[in-house]
Amino acid sequence: MNDMITKLRDTQNLTDEEFRILLTTDAFDADLREAANAVRIARYGYDVYLRGLIEFTNYCKNNCLYCGIRRDNKEASRYRLTQEDILECCREGHELGFRTFVLQGGEDPYFTDERICAIVSAIRAQYPDCAITLSIGEKSRESYQAYFDAGANRYLLRHETANPAHYAKLHPAEMSCENRKRCLYDLKEIGYQIGAGIMVGAPFQTIDHIIEDIRFMQELQPDMIGIGPFLSHKDTPFRDEPNGGLALVLRLLGVLRLTFPEVLLPATTALGTMHPQGRELGLKTGANVIMPNLSPVSVRKKYMLYDNKICTGEESAQCRNCLNTRVESAGYHISMSRGDALRVRRQNG
Ligand code: 5AD
Ligand code: FES
Repeated sequence: MNDMITKLRDTQNLTDEEFRILLTTDAFDADLREAANAVRIARYGYDVYLRGLIEFTNYCKNNCLYCGIRRDNKEASRYRLTQEDILECCREGHELGFRTFVLQGGEDPYFTDERICAIVSAIRAQYPDCAITLSIGEKSRESYQAYFDAGANRYLLRHETANPAHYAKLHPAEMSCENRKRCLYDLKEIGYQIGAGIMVGAPFQTIDHIIEDIRFMQELQPDMIGIGPFLSHKDTPFRDEPNGGLALVLRLLGVLRLTFPEVLLPATTALGTMHPQGRELGLKTGANVIMPNLSPVSVRKKYMLYDNKICTGEESAQCRNCLNTRVESAGYHISMSRGDALRVRRQNG
């Protein structure tokens, strides 16, 4: 086993230079995969946790340059689910065994705090044993507090990049890296389990940026880290930018598993989109979460953050069966528990 890999495994840290070498050398890939998988098995066994994703609106007031549902994309056909639609997705998901619901959407002003709180309270009342996760972007601390008080437990907000200059190349001037980080710290202080993360191979991204992302997350200590490849969308300014590469996504997954041994690490839909076995490869390199889509089939093709997204023609039950086969074939098994991070399980006794 390579010395840098054992050092990272045993101390959860490396110098910038060592991180750079690990992230850029294919000769270490096999060792990295083996070490990451061993750490994952030591902490979480062979469990793969599921989160049921409900993409409830693709209206967005933001204009992120990479994203297919940015406000300037006039080709996007916009939709909103009603509270009843959302509860029906939860009912179906609960029936299929899901115990975590992720409500994800664009930053849609129609969904005021009052509406979000009403939806969260309704889900909380019907499914007291389930985790409710929100992924609805940048809000004020007061809004985050209100959602939490209504019953939300977790919040996903990828920081996208910890480097302000890089952030400015991916986002319009009205958005800032600083506010995004502020949101994550507010969420954490309120008591949410939080998820941060980045797109690998995003335009203008360098290895140094990725090392800055690792440093930022070492400080933040998120419970989940969502990473997947950047994939271009034909109706965005980044339409001609190259997609992220599989090797770097897998390497970063391995590095993150060793740096954050207890973090929840999804094998993302974008990873499954870039390669037919992408999610399985991710699971074998430290990932332990999958987030299948519970949205109604009628809207799935409309939540296109990037081109060619998988699982957009399948009913929830079909995905559930397909995933079972995929996870088993990779040598793991689906756990139907809430799949809290170990930190949270210890806290709850
Ligand atoms: N390629 C890959 N991931 C994307 N996301 C948005 N657009 C793209 C894209 N073109 C990711 C962002 C966002 C998450 C919901 O989806 O990281 O935080
Ligand atoms: Fe959705 Fe395979 S996981 S179809």
